[in-house]
Amino acid sequence: MEAPKLVSTLFLTIIIFVSTCPNPFLSAQLCHPKDKNVLLQIKKAFKDPYTYASWDTSSDCCDWYGVECHEKTHQVISLSANNGDLSGPIPPQVAELPYLQYLDFHKQPNITGPIPTAIAKLKNLKSLSITWTKITGPIPDFLGQLKNLDFIALSYNSLTGPIPSSIGLLPKLTGLRLDRNKLTGPIPDTFGQFKGNDFYLYLSHNQLSGKIPVSLGNKEFTYVDLSRNKLEGDASFLFGSGKTTVQHVDLSRNLLEFDLSKVEFPKSLIFLDLNHNKISGTIPAGLTVPEFQQFNVSYNRLCGKIPVGGSLQKFDYSAYFHNLCLCGAPLDQKCK
Ligand SMILES: *[C@@H]1O[C@H](CO)[C@@H](O)[C@H](O)[C@H]1NC(C)=O
Ligand SMILES: *[C@@H]1O[C@H](CO)[C@@H](O)[C@H](O)[C@H]1NC(C)=O
Repeated sequence: MEAPKLVSTLFLTIIIFVSTCPNPFLSAQLCHPKDKNVLLQIKKAFKDPYTYASWDTSSDCCDWYGVECHEKTHQVISLSANNGDLSGPIPPQVAELPYLQYLDFHKQPNITGPIPTAIAKLKNLKSLSITWTKITGPIPDFLGQLKNLDFIALSYNSLTGPIPSSIGLLPKLTGLRLDRNKLTGPIPDTFGQFKGNDFYLYLSHNQLSGKIPVSLGNKEFTYVDLSRNKLEGDASFLFGSGKTTVQHVDLSRNLLEFDLSKVEFPKSLIFLDLNHNKISGTIPAGLTVPEFQQFNVSYNRLCGKIPVGGSLQKFDYSAYFHNLCLCGAPLDQKCK
């Protein structure tokens, strides 16, 4: 081969090599360009918050604050922002991240508006958490169609209206927090059908009314907080000695009215707050659980001797005061 030809062949080889070899700057970006574009739209819709200052076009969006990509596919699976300055309504573009599994906005005092209907498209969503924001409007019924949800937290917002019963049919749900809103209407009957074990249910600090559905007695809630609502009638079916995993029951500050005398309490119970209701009868001797961390039956219509034993004398008189005729330690009233 003559020298000039050799040189040009070499040149061509180099050019081909360079152009087929991946560009080191591009290959460092694992993020899908479509996801990146959607994220940038979300940032803009939230009025360019400082929280997302690291969201810079030149960097890999899988490295951005509050963004997580799938290990293998590199699609965005998680979007979050904790304690920041996101502002305005949650943009419908979040639904253009079709592989999203976790959506979490926490302590964002300037997020307003309703939960966007676009979220109904996020069929892979496992966890929806929008807490301590100013979102308003109802809890959308479509949440019941997102069958992969195992956790919903919408606490500390200004949500109104009833709780959709479709939520009770979510097959994987193990935790539901709707506390500290302005929710009205009853607890849905479907809440007795929750499938998940080790279930956490927080509905406190709302304006829920009516009777607690008896169906809830079919379910063991490890942790149930229905306090500070307007619930009435019976709640004894939430207990029962056959239950083995119930630990924390807070029913305080409602309008509940039932006879405590014959209620059997699960041995697993360590927290029982019934204060400010209309509960009558006596404190059953079986309630001498040794491990109580919290026990409060004050402001009810209870009578008779406070059983001795377990941890019942560990609490001061305020756990028992303002009842009809309770007596015995730690109250000053002696039993006749
Ligand atoms: C929310 O908006 C108000 C009014 O624009 C502003 O003063 C405040 O700093 C914002 N809060 C946050 C956490 O960004
Ligand atoms: C029991 O509840 C009442 C009413 O909220 C409260 O005043 C009291 O301090 C509580 N006592 C204990 C021991 O929790």
